[in-house]
Amino acid sequence: VQKLEQLYEGKAKRVYRTDSPDLYLVEFKDDATAFNGAKKGTIRNKGALNNQISAVFFRLLEKRGVPTHFVELAGEREMLVKALEILKVEVVVRNIAAGSLAKRLGLPEGTALPFPVLEFYYKSDELGDPMINGYHIRALGLASPEQMAKIEETALKVNGILLEYLAGKDIDLVDFKLEFGTHKGGLVLGDEISPDTCRFWDRTTREKLDKDRFRRDLGNVEGAYEEMFRRLTGKKFE
Ligand code: C5P
Repeated sequence: VQKLEQLYEGKAKRVYRTDSPDLYLVEFKDDATAFNGAKKGTIRNKGALNNQISAVFFRLLEKRGVPTHFVELAGEREMLVKALEILKVEVVVRNIAAGSLAKRLGLPEGTALPFPVLEFYYKSDELGDPMINGYHIRALGLASPEQMAKIEETALKVNGILLEYLAGKDIDLVDFKLEFGTHKGGLVLGDEISPDTCRFWDRTTREKLDKDRFRRDLGNVEGAYEEMFRRLTGKKFE
C-alpha cells in the first residue's frame, strides 16, 4: 500500500490517503495537548508508543469479536486502518471517579463506581467537546438510535475486555474514550486506545501511567508511557 497525500492533521495524529480507497494510514505524533489545546508540549517517543500500544488493544478486541479499524502496523509510528466516516460523538466509559467526573459530581478521585458510567461528548474543537445526551445526539443527527444502541453495547463490551486484560497486568482501567465510525455501512471502533485516551493506574501503588502526568505536571511522562508498553508487550521499549 502506498502513502499518498495528507487528508487531515489532528492534535496527536495525521491521516493519509493511500492507493487503496478503503485504507488510510495513520501517523502518531509526539505532540501532546491538554485542556482543549490550551496546554501544549511533546512527549518523547509518544507517537511510536501510542501506535504500538493501540495495536495491542485493537488486536485483542478484534480477537474478541469487536470490529476495529486496525489493519496492521506500517512502521514504528504508523498503522494502516480501514477508511472510516467518523461519527462526531466521543464515548467515555468510567469505572473509577477521576478527572472531569470527579470534579463535576464532587466525588473524591479514586472512588470506585458501582457500575460503569457512560458519557457522550460532541466532537467539536470550536465548542470544546461539550457533554451531550442521547436527545442531543438525535437532534443534531450525530448518530441514529440504532447506531447509539450498538455503540453503548460495544463500549460496555470493550470495557469488560480491557478491564479483565489489564487486571492481568496489574493495571486498573479508570476510564477511557472511544470513537466510532462507519465502514461499508458497519459500525467500527476507530481512533486510538492509548495512555493519551485512557487513565491507567498501577493496581498496587495507584501510580498514574497515562497522560494525567502531562496534564498535571507530575513528571516522568515518558517513563509512564514506556511502562505501559512494557506491561502490555513484556518488552522494554527501545
Ligand atoms: O477529562 P475527563 O475526565 O472527562 O476524561 C475522561 C477520559 O476520556 C480520560 O481517560 C481521558 O484521557 C479521555 N479523553 C480523551 N479525549 C478527550 C476527552 C477525554 O481521550 N477529548
